[in-house]
Amino acid sequence: MGLYGDRVLPLVIDRVCASGIFTRWRARVCAGLAGSVVEIGFGSGTNVPFYPPEVEVVYAVEPSARALALAAPRLARSATRVVVAGGDAQSIALADDSCDVALATFVLCTVPDPARALAEVRRVVRPGGTLHFLEHGAAEGAGVLALQHLLDPLEVRLAGGCHLTRRPLELVRAAGLEVEWHESGRARGPAPWSQFTVGVARVP
Ligand SMILES: C[S@@+](CC[C@H](N)C(=O)[O-])C[C@H]1O[C@@H](n2cnc3c(N)ncnc32)[C@H](O)[C@@H]1O
Repeated sequence: MGLYGDRVLPLVIDRVCASGIFTRWRARVCAGLAGSVVEIGFGSGTNVPFYPPEVEVVYAVEPSARALALAAPRLARSATRVVVAGGDAQSIALADDSCDVALATFVLCTVPDPARALAEVRRVVRPGGTLHFLEHGAAEGAGVLALQHLLDPLEVRLAGGCHLTRRPLELVRAAGLEVEWHESGRARGPAPWSQFTVGVARVP
């Protein structure tokens, strides 16, 4: 990936993703997590401060060694056990039905094949378990959506493969997960990056 992708980008993502803008959204998506959790696109552990005490173990799936290193201070302040479980959400290094819950925040935008990643989530989360998701995606307004389409090629290059125009709710439903609740809305911040969807879906 080179110096930018390996060293600079994880630092930029860490700074942006740890911003207070996300606090209420992270608190909402992490509420109710319990038992064994697989977190895809763990990044620098920006969700770690929001894990409830009912979480027994988190299996972190993250390809960036630099991002994992940046997680160290958050992990040091947390009582939750976190174990790295491979680097690709499209091929998770965990057994079938081995987790109670999956957590995905701002990662379905970036994984090359989100349908494959969600199929893997279905495989490793036991039947009756849940996926908690928080994602940005395509805007509701036609003007912002047009701008997103314009910016997308640049975003992909500069932000490690992140797309602005994916539709997380449709992806989750297409994977055969049953959406129990979701909330979509505009977060604070620049419009092309601020259409958020948070929700919980159940593995049938
Ligand atoms: C925008 S960051 C979000 C990080 C974190 N989830 C958060 O909410 O702050 C996207 C993360 O997905 C990771 N990622 C990229 N491709 C991936 C893949 N195939 N499997 C798992 N994670 C991936 C990136 O390395 C990056 O850490």
